[in-house]
Amino acid sequence: MGQGLLTDGFTRAGGPLACEGVPLAAIADAVGTPAYVYSAGTVRARLAALEAVLAGVPHRVHYALKANGTHGVLQVLRAAGAGADVVSGGELYRARRAGFAPSDIVFDGPGKSADELREAIRAGVRVINLESQGEAELVAALAADEGRVVPVGLRVNPEVTVENFHAYISTGEAGDKFGIPLDDAFGVAAWVAGRPSLRLVGLHMHVGSQLDTLGAFDEAVAKLAALLARLRAELPATAATLTLLDLGGGLPVAYGDGDRGADLEAYGEVVRRAHARTGCEILLEPGRLLVAEAGVLLTRVRYRKRSGGRDYVIVDAGMNDLIRPPLYDAFHAIEAVAPGEAALVASVVGPVCESGDFFGHGRPLPPVAPGDLIVLRTAGAYGSVMSSNYNARPRAAEVLVDGDRYAVVRRRESYEDLMRLENESPTWRSA
Ligand SMILES: Cc1ncc(COP(=O)(O)O)c(C=O)c1O
Repeated sequence: MGQGLLTDGFTRAGGPLACEGVPLAAIADAVGTPAYVYSAGTVRARLAALEAVLAGVPHRVHYALKANGTHGVLQVLRAAGAGADVVSGGELYRARRAGFAPSDIVFDGPGKSADELREAIRAGVRVINLESQGEAELVAALAADEGRVVPVGLRVNPEVTVENFHAYISTGEAGDKFGIPLDDAFGVAAWVAGRPSLRLVGLHMHVGSQLDTLGAFDEAVAKLAALLARLRAELPATAATLTLLDLGGGLPVAYGDGDRGADLEAYGEVVRRAHARTGCEILLEPGRLLVAEAGVLLTRVRYRKRSGGRDYVIVDAGMNDLIRPPLYDAFHAIEAVAPGEAALVASVVGPVCESGDFFGHGRPLPPVAPGDLIVLRTAGAYGSVMSSNYNARPRAAEVLVDGDRYAVVRRRESYEDLMRLENESPTWRSA
């Protein structure tokens, strides 16, 4: 595999681009631009494809909300049977508002606050993955206060060298801020195992995102399996409780720049081996895999111009809507919605007053004119969730398509929304 999984829900059948049965031009006319458009069918298909390669392995897929936490998208995933992986109190709140049962939620993150931890304990989430001795001490104290025995896992940094396209999305190398260093993990586990308010139920890792190969991932699994065996042998009380191995996310998608996308069959084999090595139920936290290809950012051309021999296409979406190109040097394929032969090689840029406000340089496009529609493909993950109001730009609308119907699942922000939280007549206080 690795050639792309299935159709991604955006097709043109020789004509203008449509999402499932809905022409993107109809959405742009009704909802305006910029707008994120998601294909519900693609989200379901990606989850089903992942589940298919995991058949027979005791496992649970906990979708990582950080990739896209929009309520409408969460409801599609919950209805399709996924659990949730959250990394903040806000994501916990969103997951619960979307109907995920606390027992279907795992809570990760390197710097959870006492309030967030208390909310997770009171909700009764499936497992809180701890990332430091300090956090273990805090959770033990909070759990004791609440009179509860809280299921916890340890996020261990397996210290492997991963292959992906940007240092900012690698998280499992020696010295990274994430997880408990491998050499310290046994000591923290022993401390946790001795606390009456904690129950050590598992080990956790997440080595990075958009993983090009599975070698380092498999190596990390082997390190966790060895640690698990040592814990069971030397801390007999944990032998009965240690039943979960959480392998995090990281499955890649093909953005169209020569990248390969996920080899799901090979991934299924690694997961199968992880279960065979440990006897644990395997938890998975895919984000990008399930939603990236299901989304586009739909935008309209505002102006064309030439500068220094270069053609510019200035669109109405900006880096505040989709920051991945300047943040990670990320590639998004750019297409005109109307069909047409490439006649132009252009820089596609936004209206934000920053040189970093670009979506791609040297991109072939038909001879687009002001008013024409363009899409940035594969924008369903780490798109809207990372958007901001920079340059006082209201955030884009978000639209979910299901078959031949669509719904606005997040309305476009208004100017009033920009001011909603600000106090125009503040009360001044003395310290
Ligand atoms: C702890 C954890 N789990 C899961 C994910 C999801 O990763 P991806 O979207 O690459 O599958 C992330 C992303 O950074 C993460 O930090």
